[in-house]
Amino acid sequence: MIEDMYRVRTPNSAKLYAEACRVLPAGLTHDSRALSPYPIYVSRAEGPRKWDVDGNEYVDYYGGHGALLLGHCHPRVVEAIRDQAALGTHPGAAHELEVRWGRLVQRLVPSAERVRFTNSGSEASHLALRLARAYTGKSKIVRFVGHFHGWHDQVASGSMSHFDGSVPAGIPASLAAESILLPADDPAAAVQTLQARDDIAAVILEPSGASWGQVPLPPGFLAALRGATHRHGALLVFDEVITGFRWAPGGAQARYGILPDLTVLAKILAGGLPGGAVAGAKEILDQLDPVAARAAGHEKIGHQGTFNANPLCAAAAVATLSIVGNSDACARAEATTQHLREGLRGILVEEDVPWSVYGEASGFVIFPNPERLPLDPASFDPLRLGFKGLKGSRDPELVNRLRIAMLARGVDLNGAPGGLVSAAHGPREVAQTLEAFRDALRALKVAGAMRAAVSAA
Ligand SMILES: Cc1ncc(COP(=O)(O)O)c(C=O)c1O
Repeated sequence: MIEDMYRVRTPNSAKLYAEACRVLPAGLTHDSRALSPYPIYVSRAEGPRKWDVDGNEYVDYYGGHGALLLGHCHPRVVEAIRDQAALGTHPGAAHELEVRWGRLVQRLVPSAERVRFTNSGSEASHLALRLARAYTGKSKIVRFVGHFHGWHDQVASGSMSHFDGSVPAGIPASLAAESILLPADDPAAAVQTLQARDDIAAVILEPSGASWGQVPLPPGFLAALRGATHRHGALLVFDEVITGFRWAPGGAQARYGILPDLTVLAKILAGGLPGGAVAGAKEILDQLDPVAARAAGHEKIGHQGTFNANPLCAAAAVATLSIVGNSDACARAEATTQHLREGLRGILVEEDVPWSVYGEASGFVIFPNPERLPLDPASFDPLRLGFKGLKGSRDPELVNRLRIAMLARGVDLNGAPGGLVSAAHGPREVAQTLEAFRDALRALKVAGAMRAAVSAA
């Protein structure tokens, strides 16, 4: 029934997906866009909303995978892109916008003494690890189970799969062995590892906890890492691809008051267009400068990239970061999300559904209780479940049905399931989402999707 309602509303998406499957593996261009029986195909978007090829309107919580703090098509961002497109998309030369973009990052991100642009967050984490290894002369990287740093080979194991540390197909075992994968909820294990070994170049993590806080960090985790990395000569790298310019204008490091040596940035950084950056201590970034590197006795680190800081992305970025720096966009998005989280939790209580909703800043995560634990939505503490309970065990079928049920009621959740809220979302979007959620839960109950969970409460 849930699927029937979705299918009836989205025949043109179904057709496009059938065609896509004949050209794109799985019909997709990003693993996380998978949805059964097929994803919606979106034709336009504006502010907090988007429309599919069948004309259905959605409140959007995908938010360009988190890239759109200002919502879709902010007029100043659109104008900046349009103006720059007419002036050229690739001068094959240095240009003013890259300087202005870098200055904005420097001004907003507390630890950003220098900035190097890349094309994506994955490229930025790749570069950050290279810089860290070269700077320290050490090879191992400490990572945490479930923390995602892009899709490249060095960070593939244990982030979205292979949580037991086994090596994913296509990844050299020797490269996976350069990572020391530690539990994401035990600061003592990380501190002891740093103490016991002298071959660790860097500790990299999402400062929000894995997947923008889906697995929150225990209190004191970041401070413990900051102290231990200082003491033992390793670099601390914050992956702020999602938290950057969202957790606060200066990212999670500004929100928590703990500064890393290097920061990996992307998403909001480039104003909704492709782009990434490594920002951090001048001495470390100076390895990219042949003169400074030689003077410091370092080898120059190579880094190319045809589209690094391309002017179209730089134009969108400068417009976006100027607004982030001069407005309360982060705070507004966070306040809306707080209302949303509270409202969703209230509905779970009223509907007697033993799930919960949590999250930080402008992110919300719906916990659909895959293990059917007895729990009270109003007093749920995600820290008690740790990685295994929150990200390590899932009920993909239930999550898919929830997302389909919400889409059929005009709301697009991401696969957490949950979402990232923009400053363009407001009370109207919250009210519409809450109504859809209540209705979707009832539909899931009728379909028998939650029988086990309800009876365990
Ligand atoms: C925390 C984090 N790091 C890195 C990345 C990779 O960024 P990109 O998709 O731009 O390569 C992502 C992407 O979702 C991310 O969430």
